[in-house]
Formats: sequence, C-alpha cells, structure tokens
Amino acid sequence: MAALATPPLALYLHFPWCVRKCPYCDFNSYTLNGELAPELYVARLARDIEAQASGVEGREVISVFFGGGTPSLFPPESISRVLHAARRCLRVTPEVEVTLEANPGAIERGAFQEYHAAGVTRVSLGAQSFDEHALRSLGRIHSPGDTQRAAAELHAAGVSNFNLDLMYGLPGQCLAGAVRDIDEALALEPAHLSHYQLTLEPGTVFAARPPPLPDEDECAAMLEECRGRLAAAGFAQYEVSAYARDGAQCRHNLNYWTFGDYLGAGAGAHGKLTCAAASRIVRTTQQREPRRYLASADAAIEQRTISRQDLPFEFMLNALRLTGGFDKETFSSRTGLPWEAIAAAVRTAGAAGLLLVTAEHCQPSAQGQRFLNDLLLHFLPETTENSGASGLSMATPEVTSSL
Ligand SMILES: C[S@@+](CC[C@H](N)C(=O)[O-])C[C@H]1O[C@@H](n2cnc3c(N)ncnc32)[C@H](O)[C@@H]1O
Ligand code: SF4
Repeated sequence: MAALATPPLALYLHFPWCVRKCPYCDFNSYTLNGELAPELYVARLARDIEAQASGVEGREVISVFFGGGTPSLFPPESISRVLHAARRCLRVTPEVEVTLEANPGAIERGAFQEYHAAGVTRVSLGAQSFDEHALRSLGRIHSPGDTQRAAAELHAAGVSNFNLDLMYGLPGQCLAGAVRDIDEALALEPAHLSHYQLTLEPGTVFAARPPPLPDEDECAAMLEECRGRLAAAGFAQYEVSAYARDGAQCRHNLNYWTFGDYLGAGAGAHGKLTCAAASRIVRTTQQREPRRYLASADAAIEQRTISRQDLPFEFMLNALRLTGGFDKETFSSRTGLPWEAIAAAVRTAGAAGLLLVTAEHCQPSAQGQRFLNDLLLHFLPETTENSGASGLSMATPEVTSSL
C-alpha cells in the first residue's frame, strides 16, 4: 500500500435556483417560483459549513466556488456573508481564488463591483452563444448584448480574471456559426474559456424532444477549428473543455481534476475528503431538493467511502481529462494505491495508442483525448456486470458538482 497523502482542500457552495430552467440542463437547479429568500439559504449554508469544519481542522482552503444554478441571483451581501462564515470556521488562505458563476441575464447593473468588494476574485459567465437565434433555441433568458455588457462591467470592476462558458453543436448551428461564437467571445477579452459540446442529458426537455443537432463529424470539425482559433489567440487547452491564458487556469477545477479534496455545502452539493491517518477517502452528498435541504439537520450529510476497487477509475475519470495528464507519484499519493494497481491497464491503453507513458508521467495521447470514454474503459473496475463489456455511457464524464 502506498502512503495516502492529504491533498489541497477547496470549498464548493451550491445555489440551486435559476430564473428559468434551461431545456438542456440536468444540473441540480430549479426554476425560482416566487421570491428568493436569501437570508434563509445563507444561514443554512453557514450552518452546513460549520458542521463540516471539524472534519478538516487545520487544513488550508485554497479556493471557494459559488456554483449553481445561478448564484448571481443572490445579492453581494449574501455572498459576503457566506464568505465570512467560511473564514470564521475554516482556514482560508489569503491568496484564495473565489469564483462566482453568473448568468448574464441575472445580474444587477454595477453588481460586479460589489461582489469583488465582498471577496470574489473570479467570475464565470454563462454566455453559451452570441447568436440571438441560438440563445432562444436554448431557452436562455439573455441576449448577446447582456453578455457583452457584463464583460465590460467585469473589466471596469477590476475582475478581468473571468471565464466565458460557450456551447457548440447547437440546434441548427454550422461550422461558421461555432467559429463566430469563439471570435465574439475572444473580443470580450476573457482570461478563460470553457467550450462544451451540447449533450442531450437524460431527463431533460431536449432528451425528450431532441432539437435538430449537427452530426458527430460536424461537431468534431467545430471543435478542431475552434481549438485552433483559441490557440492562435493565446488560449491553451488544458482540459477536455477548458482553455486559458497563461496563469489563468481555474485553480478550483484543477483541484478536482488532480483528485484534490473539497467540502460541498448547499443543496445537492458533493464533497470528497481524504483521511490519510485512516487510509480512507470519503464522498459526501447533501440533500438534493432545496426545501428538504433547508429543513434538514445541520449535520445531516450522506457519506460513502470509496472502495479500493473503485479508486483507480475515480482518479482516472478526473486526471485523464487534463491534456497534460498526471505524474505517477500523484496517482499513488492521492489514492494510496501502488502504481502496480493500474500498471497492466496502463500498458494495454498505451498499446492501443490511447496513453503516452514515461518513467514518471502518464498522459492521454491525441487519440486518447478524442476517445476519452474508450480510454477510461481500461480502468473500469471488474464486476460481474461489466466484465468483458464495452458499454460505458459517458458523453462528457461528469466530475464535479458543477464544473
Ligand atoms: C451549471 S452551468 C452554470 C452557469 C449558469 N447557470 C448559466 O447557465 O449561465 C455550467 C455550464 O455547463 C454547461 N452546460 C450545461 N448543460 C449542458 C449540456 N447539456 N451540454 C453541454 N454543456 C452544458 C453550460 O455552458 C453552463 O454554462
Ligand atoms: S444552464 Fe445554468 S441557467 Fe440554465 S438551468 Fe442550468 S444552471 Fe440554470
């Protein structure tokens, strides 16, 4: 057994409401019916953080992520209160990255200045597209102009470290349309860009009534062209869907992808915690439904230890998303498993041309990046259900409570 080390720690805070539920979205988010009651939710979040703090005593929090849903529905004062609660109960490093997800259609004029003053250092804007028609077909509540105004306000507020979420492979979209979206996004001078292929998630309106989407070849061509455009503009790809200028990679998401630890607070939030002394890694899950979460006891959180058998796959599900892969030493220190636990699978994936392996390092090849699900299959734990099977269904491997 290799020595399990205590990895960096982050804090994820979930805000489950949106102005309107988008037809493609399967995140834990709900249309806001009636008035938002920020005080109630903020107070419950503060108690949630406090109840979990004893499990991470003395550990430093390197990043805080306000995700959703739409956290920007909450006023700056609420965000400030939650950050105060976090600072009161946890050891938050002074250099902490604090990200706020914002919907361009749900942000008050001038609010970024106040969020920044409250401690937010980074904003992630759900732009999705700059095409009016595409935004309408996605059921978005904002126009391209709203995103442009939000970006200008972010620069003016001193928050130039912002991300734009874009999707491609949209209903009726052609290659030129996808590239235009990238150009429009780059014109707003973000520091980071997330570029997701629209997927039909089970249980969504789009899955029940699929709109006409470009086929896989067209989507592959869009990805190729957009990636080139981004590279030429100085945005290096570092993960399946993430591109950044030098030094602007998202520290919070990098922590997920390197199998770091995180506390998860809020409705449906997930956490992962390593207990090196007990050689144990635990996943936590909060009550998913907001009303139940609000009514639940402070310490009512579900816990599940990740079995030794599942650890290699869980590690790979994250680490192989990174274009640069991972050091072999990281695998051992973050899972507590010796390299031999995956050596055979690494060899076969390497022989299939999906992995590039050196004495100390392991990373997906270009082929492995393109066919990530095939690569991950090599690390699936052997069970009676999947022995010899190849039916892993994961359009985009989901790794976080909110990416
Ligand atoms: C949790 S959302 C947060 C952003 C914010 N709620 C908004 O939509 O403006 C994170 C991002 O995931 C992406 N996303 C959500 N559902 C998706 C899907 N079915 N396929 C691809 N990307 C998706 C969108 O780009 C979205 O901005
Ligand atoms: S995509 Fe964003 S705004 Fe739309 S429902 Fe999902 S979380 Fe809410």
